[in-house]
Amino acid sequence: MPPFDLVIFGGTGDLAMRKLLPALLHRYVDGQIVAGTRIYGIARDERSDEAYRERVREAVAAAAAADPRVAECVDGFIELLHYRRLDLSGEAGWPEFAAEIGNDPDRVRVFYLAVGPGLFAMVGDRLQAAGLSGEGSRVVVEKPIGKDGASAQVINEALGRVFDESQVYRIDHYLGKETVQNLTALRFGNALFEPLWKAEHIDHVQITVAETVGLETRAGYYDQSGALRDMVQNHLLQLLCLVAMEPPASLAADSIRDEKLKVLRSLRPIDNGNAAQLTVRGQYRAGAVGGKAVPGYLDELGHGSHTETFVAIKAEVQNWRWAGVPFYLRTGKRLSERMSEIVVTFRQVPHSIFADLPNASPLAPNKLVIRLQPDEGIKLWLMHKVPGPGGMRMREVAMDLSVEETFGGRQPDAYERLLMDTVRGNPMLFMRRDEVDAAWHWIDPIRNAWEVNHDAPKPYTAGGWGPSAAVALIERDGRTWHEDEG
Ligand code: BG6
Repeated sequence: MPPFDLVIFGGTGDLAMRKLLPALLHRYVDGQIVAGTRIYGIARDERSDEAYRERVREAVAAAAAADPRVAECVDGFIELLHYRRLDLSGEAGWPEFAAEIGNDPDRVRVFYLAVGPGLFAMVGDRLQAAGLSGEGSRVVVEKPIGKDGASAQVINEALGRVFDESQVYRIDHYLGKETVQNLTALRFGNALFEPLWKAEHIDHVQITVAETVGLETRAGYYDQSGALRDMVQNHLLQLLCLVAMEPPASLAADSIRDEKLKVLRSLRPIDNGNAAQLTVRGQYRAGAVGGKAVPGYLDELGHGSHTETFVAIKAEVQNWRWAGVPFYLRTGKRLSERMSEIVVTFRQVPHSIFADLPNASPLAPNKLVIRLQPDEGIKLWLMHKVPGPGGMRMREVAMDLSVEETFGGRQPDAYERLLMDTVRGNPMLFMRRDEVDAAWHWIDPIRNAWEVNHDAPKPYTAGGWGPSAAVALIERDGRTWHEDEG
């Protein structure tokens, strides 16, 4: 790939230091970022290139320590870095910056807005005024795109005034995870699953994204957002789309995005009338995670709040393929373990020929468990005869594929793929504007219902699996949340 320019607004922030720059370093190590590339950190304060480079050196120290191949490359990578101070509300620094970057249509310029969504429009306007928004330029925006449908529209319109939709890359970093990309490979690269992938054969689907962390350093953002906006509107719905979508005609970005959009538009609406039956919100209280005592949400925050740190939802995709199949979604902070997985539970055999055997144990339904993180892999649970005498005794056992054991090596971080896709101009793993709108269109009435119904979040003890109401949500239907049997 030829040299390019990558400009990170919020270049000294948490995302840049923790995710973006280490990801770029890894791509540099693999030879995808060549000499002549320029990576700019942009922020408000005065700072020299040297000071910035030192800061980044610290940020990538852990990655370097983990792998001598990376350590060897740090000096070369650091040489590509620059720091510029730019005023987003005024002209200061812009003419010089524009002259330095130039507007050569044949050189890719990626502007990464690692800043709050409130600044997206302002940066866009500045880039346009500086003549930096033309051909060759791309803009990358992080979630959250707004806090509801209306504010997302304002942001998207502001970006749309400056950039063509093909220049806008809306990141949902879950789409860059290897195991999430593998969902498409699993479904459409194998003949085995697709014929069964429908209401006729699938009993229900569970999608869990559980975290052990609490508020971290993001109290200001998180308390305004809550789990529904922070996780469900984007990550969980994107996962649901990849599980539920029809086979796309090709891997072309719009082909896949068209199919995801249809799923979002088929979601059964949840509003004041049914939110109490179909949703559960929770907030953690003090407890222990991984054997360590942790404070409750309100103690961490330092004031009262009705923000949810946990959500469970019984969703349904109302179309021919999925009618009647519940999709149980749950996500939360300070849960028992960090674990994201998708569980597809198939229907029972239509008739058991084993039922009359003495001591017959019931047949467990087959389950396909797709572990997104950690211990990435796939397990297919099957009934198997226990070998030896004792008749036709059967047990549920798993065919177990561990990504690490099978492929070895390091799992690249989601941002590595996504950042390079923006440079290559491949929008497949990014959200199109209408997807964002459709997701908010489903989410807004849920939030509204909670407000109207004064549905305060239910307390749960940190280190557990959320409020008991979340267990009741699925048990009411005669089902249980999946627990790994080992
Ligand atoms: C982010 C959310 O998008 O995803 C965070 O804002 C959350 O609250 C994070 O912790 C989880 O990402 P991952 O990759 O650690 O599962």
